[in-house]
Amino acid sequence: MAKQVASDIDWNNLGFDYMDLPYRFRAYYHDGKWQDAGLTEDSTLHISEGSTALHYGQADFEGMKAYRTKSGEIQLFRPDRNAKRMKDSCTRLLMPAFPEDQFVQAAKEVVKANADFVPPYGTGGTLYLRPLMIGVGGNIGVHAADEYIFTIFAMPVGSYFKGGMVPTNFITSDFDRAAHKGTGQSKVGGNYAASLLPGDEAHKNGFSDCIYLDPVNHEKIEEVGSANFFGITKDNKFITPKSPSILPSITKYSLLWLAKNRLGLEVEEGDVYIDQLDQFTKAGACGTAAVISPIGGISHHGNLHVFYSETEVGPITTQLYDMLTGIQFGDVEAPEGWVQKVE
Ligand SMILES: Cc1ncc(COP(=O)(O)O)c(C=O)c1O
Repeated sequence: MAKQVASDIDWNNLGFDYMDLPYRFRAYYHDGKWQDAGLTEDSTLHISEGSTALHYGQADFEGMKAYRTKSGEIQLFRPDRNAKRMKDSCTRLLMPAFPEDQFVQAAKEVVKANADFVPPYGTGGTLYLRPLMIGVGGNIGVHAADEYIFTIFAMPVGSYFKGGMVPTNFITSDFDRAAHKGTGQSKVGGNYAASLLPGDEAHKNGFSDCIYLDPVNHEKIEEVGSANFFGITKDNKFITPKSPSILPSITKYSLLWLAKNRLGLEVEEGDVYIDQLDQFTKAGACGTAAVISPIGGISHHGNLHVFYSETEVGPITTQLYDMLTGIQFGDVEAPEGWVQKVE
């Protein structure tokens, strides 16, 4: 695959697709420590056929973005949170975490080295970073690997759900992406493998993605395949599901904070029953890739519950979107420690 050239990119029409950029960060764990760390131009991983990542899913990852500000600077949004979550995912899969401060430093190095690929301010595009760790080396027994590769690669992206801030419909799934006390809280490959079939069914039926219900009773909303869920009640309360089997979304916790502290809303992390959607006037999906994607309607067992008519987006959803993206692109003052400049 040829290396991507920045001048070939149509910044206003970016999708969410892999591109082979000039540089990525790579580090190797062997003999009990991380070593040989640095930038490389090689986008191919050379690994043993016995790698635990390939057979037993010993693999975790992250998703984060770099934003170009109006003055042309580049900044990251809460990268320390991604570092911490990856450490937690590593703990769950018995992998050696990459040190959190070095994770953030490596992310900055990748952004700096590929700075030409951070989309211009005003296009809505961002540089998406994909930190990834895999268990490698010659193994075949079901146990943790002795060797690992950690990499961070990047690509410029536009909106994840087609249309961006336009309401789209979602459908509940009869499948589970993760077990009640399984790996749902961790960003591990296996959760996403389990979500491919239900996600594909949802897409084929014209929905943006599926919504998973709690794996115990299938009564409560868990999350969307690649984003967390939130609803706004008739009396303007911001509610989002709490569960041991959903990914703790950095965007969701940022919105909870902003809704409470900047918009003065009542907020709650709690149970969201699928048969009580009437309490909400609006609903949305939120995540690094999804940002905030309004949910037009949810189809559940053949009934479509509609939140939005046509292209209307509620005022609170809009305020939250403007505030979050304003902070990310440097137009709105960020709460202490939320943005880090790439210098
Ligand atoms: C399953 C799932 N839930 C939620 C999210 C949102 O998390 P974050 O806001 O940290 O990106 C993601 C990823 O982006 C995800 O893959």
